[in-house]
Amino acid sequence: MAALPAKLLKVTLIVLVLGGMYLLALNKHAERDQLRKISVDLTPSCKEKLQGYALAAAEHYRSPYVRKMSGAWSTIRGYSEDDVRAIQRGCNIVDDLQGNLANSGARERWNADRFVRGTHTTCANCHQGVGDKQDAVGNRLVGSNSLGASWAMADMYDRFTGLLLPHELRQMQCYINSSNGFKPNAADDLIRDVTAYSRFLSAAVDLKIGNRYPEQGMDEIPASATRRRGDDYVRGAQVYRERCASCHGPQGLGTIVQGRVLYPALAGPQSFSLDSRMNFAAVNTIMPGFICRNMPLGQEGSLDNQECRDIGYYLSTLPRPAGDKQGPLVAAWQQLMMTVMPPLTRYAESLGSKDTPHAPAD
Ligand code: HEC
Ligand code: HEC
Repeated sequence: MAALPAKLLKVTLIVLVLGGMYLLALNKHAERDQLRKISVDLTPSCKEKLQGYALAAAEHYRSPYVRKMSGAWSTIRGYSEDDVRAIQRGCNIVDDLQGNLANSGARERWNADRFVRGTHTTCANCHQGVGDKQDAVGNRLVGSNSLGASWAMADMYDRFTGLLLPHELRQMQCYINSSNGFKPNAADDLIRDVTAYSRFLSAAVDLKIGNRYPEQGMDEIPASATRRRGDDYVRGAQVYRERCASCHGPQGLGTIVQGRVLYPALAGPQSFSLDSRMNFAAVNTIMPGFICRNMPLGQEGSLDNQECRDIGYYLSTLPRPAGDKQGPLVAAWQQLMMTVMPPLTRYAESLGSKDTPHAPAD
């Protein structure tokens, strides 16, 4: 008869533990809902972008952009207060992954620095125009890595993995490699909110789901689009020094002024990883395309295809973090090179400038 109370005790214990965990989960969910209700401080670029698209909670939504570009208003279902905040947070994440501009108190939940290792990456570095790049009169740009167009394509065939990947998984890939970090859970607010923002972008510029738009993806430059002189390290290093180093630093380590990332790192520990599609050694057409269209900032379009490929090649030879595919040996090697190369290169360059009387002044 002593067996019964023991059994009862066991069952009670299990019920108590499970019940406790359930209450804790409820509590966490309530906390999360509470946080979602807090109004959002927008980064300056997000403020401009979302104001330009007249984002507001209302029964119907009409985009000033569509009106401007097509001459006619189109009216679609509007957004709730909750939707608006999700879209705003999503924009902040894209523009300010590290939470430098919107990092305050409870809002910490919506910056992603816990998911990225480096201190320089933000989605908008590569998805320019806060994921929605346009020229001065509002035309969207071919191959500008647009997040709105990416969302409109929903489940896209990904030629690198051979899979159909939804927008959420594509974001995850970018957390892991392009941002050298860890992937958030698919249901994490970070992913949800960026999806809300991307979806809003596609509505604001009137993209239709399922279509393919030319602004999706990067405008790639294959070797066949050059004068076929081969990709050259020496030429790349030279053009880099002349056209890029003033902002991104002589070794691509970026420029920080007063704790703020002025120009992001293109190599070294703060940069994207070996597995990023931006790394020329991983995909040799994407980085040259990015450079030719978007850099040097303020003089976009001034480099030719050959130069962009040369620079891409040169950048891929600089040490950077290993990706998730390489394993611990490569990771350790890259770590070593990232530690010893910058001082060695600086030393070699200081010798060079002393010994060569005809060194070009720069
Ligand atoms: C270092 C540059 C870089 C950073 C930083 C970066 N991305 Fe990307 N992203 C890319 C490249 C390159 C592609 C692939 C483009 C292609 O396949 O043509 C891509 C693709 C994507 C796609 C799929 C788009 C498509 O149409 O193929 C999504 C969604 C995405 N990124 C979201 C994000 C998010 C969210 C962040 C921030 C957490 C981010 N990216 C950070 C470079 C970057
Ligand atoms: C006037 C300063 C300036 C110059 C010159 C410049 N860049 Fe940039 N670059 C930036 C800024 C700022 C960003 C961040 C994105 C933005 O604001 O457009 C950036 C972003 C980038 C990125 C994406 C960065 C990432 O997060 O990994 C690459 C790649 C890049 N630049 C390559 C180059 C190359 C190659 C050159 C030379 C041909 C160059 N840049 C010249 C300012 C500059």
